Amino acid sequence: MNKKIIIGNWKMNPSSVTDAEKLFKSIKKSLVKGVDTVVCAPFPYLQSLKKIGVTQNFALGAENVHFEKEGAFTGEVSTSMLSSVGVKYCIVGHSERRAQGETDEMVAKKVLALNKIKIIPIICVGEKERDHSGFYLNTVKEQVVASLSLIPKASFKNVIVAYEPVWAIGSSALRAATPAECHEMIIFIRKCISDISNQATAHSTRIIYGGSASVEDAGAFLNFGMADGFLLGRASLNAKSFGEIIKIASINISK
Ligand code: 13P
Repeated sequence: MNKKIIIGNWKMNPSSVTDAEKLFKSIKKSLVKGVDTVVCAPFPYLQSLKKIGVTQNFALGAENVHFEKEGAFTGEVSTSMLSSVGVKYCIVGHSERRAQGETDEMVAKKVLALNKIKIIPIICVGEKERDHSGFYLNTVKEQVVASLSLIPKASFKNVIVAYEPVWAIGSSALRAATPAECHEMIIFIRKCISDISNQATAHSTRIIYGGSASVEDAGAFLNFGMADGFLLGRASLNAKSFGEIIKIASINISK
């Protein structure tokens, strides 16, 4: 069984560094040994949050990165900039960025750049909608295969794949995926990884779920859904919910 990991994606929240520090401190109180916890925060907050205190089990993540090392890329940040402020994880290919033009090719380049500097990429994959013929499986397969295409197979175990069906994300989503839908997709993603590496690698890659995940359904996603953890949006902005989900993950590992 892979070690559980609970990751918060704060997106463009909260609105001030003071609020960010407050939330980070509250989340820090909920940490549980045996569960990795990560907060992916907006760039301007990273340095202040690092000062509050990070550990190997409570790490900082970024929400995006550029694949080039340096240069004329206004508004972008590089992997070495992130590394220099203590970032250990970075989200790539989030659907909210794909909607703004991030392609599979860009995701692959970002994964390569992060892998080189030993920042763990959190690769978001997921279909916009489901269809009865199962074409959505092809979409996810293409995203998984493309995102891993530039790194050595030996590095696959150092990435996290987040299955985030676009239709389940955010306050306008109709519903979260069901644990059964999550289970099906996690098996499918492992098969995709196995086909381009081997079974052992596929099993050691952590695959997590994101999309309206909440305290109510967290246990079911971890048990029946076979998720190795979560990429939480809204639930990560509430220290109580975030903490409860961490606790649920810890109960789940001790069974
Ligand atoms: P919500 O949990 O708010 O649906 O967001 C999920 C997400 O996009 C995490 O990256």
